[in-house]
Amino acid sequence: MDGKQVWRDRLRQRMLKLSPRRRRGLGRAIRGRLAKVIRGLGPKRIFAFAATFGEPDLWPLYRKLLRRRTDIAFPKVAGGRMTFHVIRSVDGLRPGTYRILEPVRGRRAGRPRRNDLILVPCLGVDSKGWRLGHGGGYFDRWLSSSGTGIRLGVAFHVQVARNIPHTSRDERLDGVVTDRGVFWFSARQK
Ligand SMILES: Nc1ncnc2c1ncn2[C@@H]1O[C@H](COP(=O)(O)OP(=O)(O)O)[C@@H](O)[C@H]1O
Ligand SMILES: [Mg+2]
Repeated sequence: MDGKQVWRDRLRQRMLKLSPRRRRGLGRAIRGRLAKVIRGLGPKRIFAFAATFGEPDLWPLYRKLLRRRTDIAFPKVAGGRMTFHVIRSVDGLRPGTYRILEPVRGRRAGRPRRNDLILVPCLGVDSKGWRLGHGGGYFDRWLSSSGTGIRLGVAFHVQVARNIPHTSRDERLDGVVTDRGVFWFSARQK
């Protein structure tokens, strides 16, 4: 087993230990902090992700943003690649690859621009912004070709570790929002 796999198991265990009640409370705290970041940054568009089982529940926040006509794009996986599509309502999402909710229609969002906020799901994130995903490398591939945008990880605080192994293929985050706060790793966000 490689170093990343050891960390994936460790972090999954930490997440599974959170009771549903605690998870809901922490999810609420994350949404509150994220809403504040969004108000502060005022991104043109948000590249979001559909939480899968165990991940922080961001749906109430997404619904609120959609009601305010914020442009939100969700990822869709096809042929091993991810593309983002803008949706108007969460009804425009259906279970797709890996049973994760994906946009069924909606125009392609294209590449993020400088003032766009990219929310990145994390199984783990370390003190320098290196991220561990579920092992598909989808976000690394997409981020490496997407260039710009503010890359903000979303995670429970128990998923933050001092040092997580990474390779030259891994893409770093600019910051992470957890139930305890928002932490910026890069100098360009403060
Ligand atoms: N830009 C890329 N081009 C090609 N393969 C990539 C790229 N980024 C990541 N990968 C590959 O995807 C696989 C999974 O990546 P990994 O970082 O372990 O997963 P995750 O980021 O989901 O934790 C690895 O074999 C990795 O080399
Ligand atoms: Mg990776």
